[in-house]
Amino acid sequence: MLHLQQHLTLEQQTEILKVCREVARQSPLFTPVMPSGKPFNYQMTNCGELGWISDTKGYRYTKKHPTTGRVWTPIPEIINNLAKDLANQIGEPDYHPQTCLINFYKSAGKLGLHQDNSEKNLKPAIISISLGDDAIFLIGGNKRNAPTQEILLKSGDILILHGDSRLAFHGIKKIIPGTSSLLKNGGRLNLTIRQVY
Ligand code: SIN
Ligand code: MN
Repeated sequence: MLHLQQHLTLEQQTEILKVCREVARQSPLFTPVMPSGKPFNYQMTNCGELGWISDTKGYRYTKKHPTTGRVWTPIPEIINNLAKDLANQIGEPDYHPQTCLINFYKSAGKLGLHQDNSEKNLKPAIISISLGDDAIFLIGGNKRNAPTQEILLKSGDILILHGDSRLAFHGIKKIIPGTSSLLKNGGRLNLTIRQVY
């Protein structure tokens, strides 16, 4: 795992936030439900040729937004270039960003331990960008019951799960409100860029 602390300048963070707002205008945030029907503790949307969703039929990638029925908007250039650049630096020059999941957490948002394994190709890196309030991120091993470690993710941090950490269990334990002024009304955005196949 690679944790690049405060990798993005305030200017880059502001620009990424702006393009995320444009994505959310085309593809509104929604609160998905787990296969059990229980709602998630945060909202999400996507951009890219595919988007990750969850509902009572399961976790999967779709070409269309679940409520508007429209195709996802393309990944904004700034995000696409950043992801390709980072992938290049960790030795994945052929990385092809196909999807960017955008999670929005309010102060009570959280996300249980899980593995990212809906992708057909589980080799390419997962690149994650944090914006807004700090979060306590949990990362464990490749088995659910392995011990976990807490990592503080701040606005502008990049986290890359690649190689042995690609399938590590991870989650969001807590958002720490009032720790960033990037988002006018607080909260945290996380962007997860992936190559799916
Ligand atoms: C995720 O694992 O889907 C998101 C992690 C995060 O919000 O940092
Ligand atoms: Mn994940």
